[in-house]
Amino acid sequence: MDIFCKDLYYQYNKNTEFVSYALNGVSLTIKEGEFFGIIGHTGSGKSTFIQHLNGLIPVEQGILTVGDYDLSKTDVKKSKKEKKQLKDNLKNLRRSVGMVFQYPEYQLFAETVFDDVSFGIKNFMPNLSPEEVRILTKNAIETVGLDYEKIKDKSPFELSGGQKRRVAIAGVIASRPSILILDEPCAGLDPTGKTALWNLLHSLHERVIKTIIVVSHDMNDVASNCTSVAVFNRGKVIKTGTPKELFSDSAFISDCGLEVPVTAYLTENLKNVGIKIDSDYTINRFAESFANYLKNTEKADL
Ligand SMILES: Nc1ncnc2c1ncn2[C@@H]1O[C@H](COP(=O)(O)OP(=O)(O)OP(=O)(O)O)[C@@H](O)[C@H]1O
Ligand SMILES: [Mg+2]
Repeated sequence: MDIFCKDLYYQYNKNTEFVSYALNGVSLTIKEGEFFGIIGHTGSGKSTFIQHLNGLIPVEQGILTVGDYDLSKTDVKKSKKEKKQLKDNLKNLRRSVGMVFQYPEYQLFAETVFDDVSFGIKNFMPNLSPEEVRILTKNAIETVGLDYEKIKDKSPFELSGGQKRRVAIAGVIASRPSILILDEPCAGLDPTGKTALWNLLHSLHERVIKTIIVVSHDMNDVASNCTSVAVFNRGKVIKTGTPKELFSDSAFISDCGLEVPVTAYLTENLKNVGIKIDSDYTINRFAESFANYLKNTEKADL
């Protein structure tokens, strides 16, 4: 499912003195298969934009399609039947486009992990038998790296922060979305928890979720994990490209109120002293290139 939007506008508190122009003409294409990063200064419209992608915020102005779903606003009056059709379509869309909000663990509510994770499945697929629900729930819990038998009857509130976040993600992926969107998924996690979560997202991307979209304030994470990135600024997408294309332009990134990842900073500074590192700004590639450089200079010195 590709995502396509053109000239998307959105205002909060429209026609009041508290109006806030959150989206001011967003145009963006996200191809199926991407591990897509969304960056931008605070208040630039990132969260407002992603909530359009599964219809949580209805399109007010502009074109938006997600796969075959056309979410663009139409002014044509609809019959009762058409309205029912739209409601069904929206439910299918929400099943296909999973959304993990910031601090998703705050939304855990059920008495047991099993009930929490199976909630979405029962909602989206009401005709499944209890055994089918059990299989999908078990699968989702194991997919996020938790032990089903050990955790299924626990209260979500007894778990650690990292485990709670995994349970919340399991609840979203349980109904097998093709697109998974996460708003600041690593917020509040310690470095080990962060690395584990990125590893989990990559393994989901390889095995079960076609497209992943991540909103992040951490440029190091974006550079190391995303295939493409869009930069939001004052409610618009002002640039898209690979992390390397974007972060090579440090003046542009700084004008956007952002910082370049440490790999870009080091590559640039080493270049200024005559050391050329062939890096795509992922931390692994940078380390590999730098190690090669050191090996070659050692050889030259011998
Ligand atoms: N519920 C709301 N009511 C009124 N205004 C809002 C609401 N949510 C967001 N806004 C405003 O809309 C604009 C875009 O907000 P949004 O939350 O989409 O930005 P963001 O890029 O996600 O920011 P952050 O990085 O801080 O999460 C901001 O000016 C914000 O104050
Ligand atoms: Mg936000």
